[in-house]
Amino acid sequence: MKKISILTFGCQMNRADSERMLGEMQIDGFELTENLDEADLILVNTCCVRESAEEKIFGKLGELKHLKTKNPNLILGVTGCMAQKDGSKILEKARHVDFILGTGKISKLRSIVAEIESNRKKIIDTALDEFADTRSISIARENSINAWIPIMYGCDNFCTYCIVPHVRGRERSREPIQILREIETCSAPEITLLGQNVNSYSHGFADLLRAADKIESIKRIRFMTSHPKDLNDDVINAIANGEKICEHIHLPIQHGSNRILKRMNRGYTVEKYLDLAQKIREKIPNVSITTDLIVGFPGESEEDLDLTLEMLKQIRFDAAFTFIYSRRSGTPADQFSDQIPDEIKHSRLNRLMEVQNRISFEINSAMKDQSVEILVEGESKSDSKIWTGRTRTNKIVLFEHRDESIGDLIQVKIIQPQTWILKGVIE
Ligand code: SAH
Ligand code: SF4
Ligand code: F3S
Repeated sequence: MKKISILTFGCQMNRADSERMLGEMQIDGFELTENLDEADLILVNTCCVRESAEEKIFGKLGELKHLKTKNPNLILGVTGCMAQKDGSKILEKARHVDFILGTGKISKLRSIVAEIESNRKKIIDTALDEFADTRSISIARENSINAWIPIMYGCDNFCTYCIVPHVRGRERSREPIQILREIETCSAPEITLLGQNVNSYSHGFADLLRAADKIESIKRIRFMTSHPKDLNDDVINAIANGEKICEHIHLPIQHGSNRILKRMNRGYTVEKYLDLAQKIREKIPNVSITTDLIVGFPGESEEDLDLTLEMLKQIRFDAAFTFIYSRRSGTPADQFSDQIPDEIKHSRLNRLMEVQNRISFEINSAMKDQSVEILVEGESKSDSKIWTGRTRTNKIVLFEHRDESIGDLIQVKIIQPQTWILKGVIE
């Protein structure tokens, strides 16, 4: 058996792609290994959303070099968003790489590997001109609990800071029938419908949610990411009325200043977002709302930061992922002349996180002694007796394992809520 290792960076879309690449290579007799030393094929599936991601990946590529010296037959491929963005430039920095495959070309992976196996030449394929047809692609899911189900590819929003539309191409939606068939056959108890902006799914996202809710073999439905400018009443109602659709909406606001939101090209104001959040909370009891925030966007003043801190206190997110603005060449914001110095960005990030962490802790603390349903995910990383599961609202719960199995839905009582996790006991 030939062995394959895949190192995945970036978002869920990349993880979904890695599962497809593994599925494809299994057809040609490759078997997954975690041990890089014994791999015949290593894929580094990359992200370029921030500079820090790219640095980490180049570090990893450097570490892999010695494996090529040890095993001259090893094939090393770079795939995903950074491959799409930088193409042949990656070969200049990392000469030991054998091939570069862009984001729209998973269906070409098998033939590229076969070609390199037979004549050891370098291959670069980053054309983004075709619809990523996934109908015939095999999938080897890494996670037996949650199946990543892409419903659309690409993005048309062109937020001025963001590289994603440039490396994932224009928005393309998959046919509902194809998606529903994939859900029916996935054998995981939970699915996550994936897209950069699921609310602009072109065949109707609310209809898709309702159709998925009727599929018997699954227990829970999640989805991400929602864009505030496109999340409509029909979708909110579908979530509220759905039996399996989880009460969690990841709804990135990005900033609390209208001036900055405009410069980001986000298409909504803080007031509109507040109205939307209020409507969601009225219609969906116990919903959790999480968000993404960018700090240090060009031209951000102290007042803009204060507006963001105020907004956080007003909306009270369950959790927020906070990012320092990272310049991405080729995006409009990279050309803005009023870039913020690094030290200021870092100190603003700390102020933001302090406020949000307190809010997350307060919201979680209110769950003490509550009984919640969790889907059992398995052993925690640190202790085999302590297992983890997730609430419908996407909060992680740690509990002492008895005889539950992975994939069970169980009731736990929350005894010790913390900022990022909850500790509970089985009821
Ligand atoms: N499509 C999703 C998320 C895409 S990227 C959405 O629109 O919300 C995930 C997050 O990375 C974004 O929400 C944003 O907060 C962050 N991000 C994107 N580009 C960035 C950049 N140049 N610098 C810092 N953070 C960035
Ligand atoms: Fe990037 Fe904006 Fe598209 Fe999200 S919606 S992927 S932040 S351009
Ligand atoms: Fe995802 Fe990173 Fe690409 S966030 S879409 S893997 S740039």
